[in-house]
Amino acid sequence: MARLSKLSRSIAGKTALITGAASGMGRATAHLFADEGAKVAVIDLNAEGVEKVVSEIRDAGGNARGWQLDVADKAEIEKVVQEVADHFGGLDILINNAGFSHHMSVEHDEFEANWARHMDVMLTAHVRMVRAALPYLKKSGAGRIVNIASTEGLGATPGISPYTSAKHGVIGLTRSLAVELPKYGITVNCICPGAIHTGITARIKDEHKQIFSRRRIPLNRYGEPEEVAHATLSLVLPAASYINGVALPVDAGLTIKNA
Ligand code: NAI
Repeated sequence: MARLSKLSRSIAGKTALITGAASGMGRATAHLFADEGAKVAVIDLNAEGVEKVVSEIRDAGGNARGWQLDVADKAEIEKVVQEVADHFGGLDILINNAGFSHHMSVEHDEFEANWARHMDVMLTAHVRMVRAALPYLKKSGAGRIVNIASTEGLGATPGISPYTSAKHGVIGLTRSLAVELPKYGITVNCICPGAIHTGITARIKDEHKQIFSRRRIPLNRYGEPEEVAHATLSLVLPAASYINGVALPVDAGLTIKNA
């Protein structure tokens, strides 16, 4: 038997499917995985963004192809996942990352539609992607699933109850699948990013970001998407074979700071 210290710390040659890859953390993850030699399926609702990221990766010498997909569309998910596997000859890594956040009080008239969209995109889509990808991940031998949850899955901020509930659900889904899928050699983990500079947080004024950072974040700053992408990479390595079912905060200590 090969020495366990020789387990591979490379994803070169693996195929990775990343949702929400046109922007923010998904884009950073697509770039990092391609830089590491993976074949990358860039998936997003935003077709222009998909094309841009695919071109950037190819210009840097990487292997990527893009698909436009609304992850709330079940039939399209099944079609796209099959196309990805056919194109690259399999699928080893699934990153469920696509998401959005929309502030709305529980008292608002349109609350129910907002709730439904959050659940469709940020919870139901994850399990549908897993179900569509499963036949291929089983064949991989070292299948890896990483769901992007949030520190909002560990606590709560007023005014975003659908988002908070979906992210708590992502942690629950991760743990459920982590006890169900290892029989196929598949590990399932999730990341709980803190406050990160991305499209979602772009509308927050710099001044408010600074005040929040000073009060709440031990490192006194927002994180960069690449800093989350590196944590995601660490969970999908063949050498990460015994990491399963974790909800890893990548938040500079935000969730453990009391005062
Ligand atoms: P972002 O806005 O930069 O990227 C999100 C991407 O998801 C966009 O390209 C968007 O087009 C795509 N997307 C949205 N709805 C979609 C749909 N229905 N189908 C396909 N693609 C869709 O934002 P960010 O922050 O990079 O978001 C990535 C994930 O990180 C999300 O799940 C978000 O909830 C999570 N997150 C973000 C934090 C932050 O501080 N930025 C903190 C914690 C979690």
